[in-house]
Amino acid sequence: MGEGVLRHYAEHLPLTPQTPMITMGEGETPLVRSSHLEKEVGCGALYFKLEGCNPTGSFKDRGMVVAVAKAMEEGKTTILCASTGNTSASAAAYGAYCGLNTVVLVPKGSVAQGKLSQAVAYGARVVIVDGNFDQALTLVRQLPEYLPMSLVNSVNPYRLQGQKTAAFEVMDSLGDAPDYLCIPVGNAGNITAYWMGFQEYADSGKATKRPKMMGFQAAGAAPIVLGHAVESPETVASAIRIGNPASWQLAERARDESGGAIDSVSDEQILEAYGLMASREGIFCEPASAASMAGLMKLASQGADLKDKTVVCVITGTGLKDPDLAMQQTTTVLQETAPDLESVLSILGRSV
Ligand code: F0G
Repeated sequence: MGEGVLRHYAEHLPLTPQTPMITMGEGETPLVRSSHLEKEVGCGALYFKLEGCNPTGSFKDRGMVVAVAKAMEEGKTTILCASTGNTSASAAAYGAYCGLNTVVLVPKGSVAQGKLSQAVAYGARVVIVDGNFDQALTLVRQLPEYLPMSLVNSVNPYRLQGQKTAAFEVMDSLGDAPDYLCIPVGNAGNITAYWMGFQEYADSGKATKRPKMMGFQAAGAAPIVLGHAVESPETVASAIRIGNPASWQLAERARDESGGAIDSVSDEQILEAYGLMASREGIFCEPASAASMAGLMKLASQGADLKDKTVVCVITGTGLKDPDLAMQQTTTVLQETAPDLESVLSILGRSV
């Protein structure tokens, strides 16, 4: 326990004797069986892979630990990324842990406060780009030509190598691959990484099957579904507000090779799933993460036969990243009372 992604899956990672075996305790996240929604969608078994339990609250830490270790191995002292929030939080944390400088470019006004506050607290240099994520990513891809920085976005292949370990964990927990994997798609690195992981285990005989990869984009940011880039992506799920994903072709390959699909879910569907995940499962995730459950609900409503199927929904990040949204979405009324027993009892429906 707690040995981290590098040690735990060393044989599957591109490590050398010179790679520093750093860890902040990433990986080994819970795979939790659904208590209510499984029956409602009619699955044989439904599990949630809780990636919000990673050190910075999202799946990004799995890939970041590999990318940062390799950057250190190469003698780099500054890491760089563009981000809708979680990558920057993760880079900044690992940068701080490893004594590196971290530079992050984030789209103006589109990063949840929890994520921005992480980057600031960890001491990253935060540059706000007056544009969207796609523009910020285009910029950071050019910067290493001018400045000695290591790019740690998922265009860095070490990121995907680390992220594939989540698929290993799912199979290690279930004893085999699930039938379906439902996953949100933004820059499309994670769906690509999971597919790599599922294939590696199947190829080496550690799994007997491969899941259908079911990716879900937000309807206002669904370039892969539409078949063309989206210039001004819009969605409540700010983490996946991306109009031109870097791993577009790789995601299509994962979809096609697995016999899966990449579909879109509306903001309404995302928010419905976000509410149900919290109120029916006790899982507070961020809206982008709820896209996987929203997608599964959409599949079920279209009549997909899931009754003998094992389904895993990847819950990519914690809801604490974006508490403002939770407060906006709730219909719960917060009641105030005087600090005495009689007043509290009267609010709760009993008089003294
Ligand atoms: N879920 C969350 C919580 C994310 O932060 C992201 C991506 C995704 C899903 C989509 O994963 O990009 O691999 O398809 N966040 C990136 C970031 C873009 O900058 O934090 P993907």
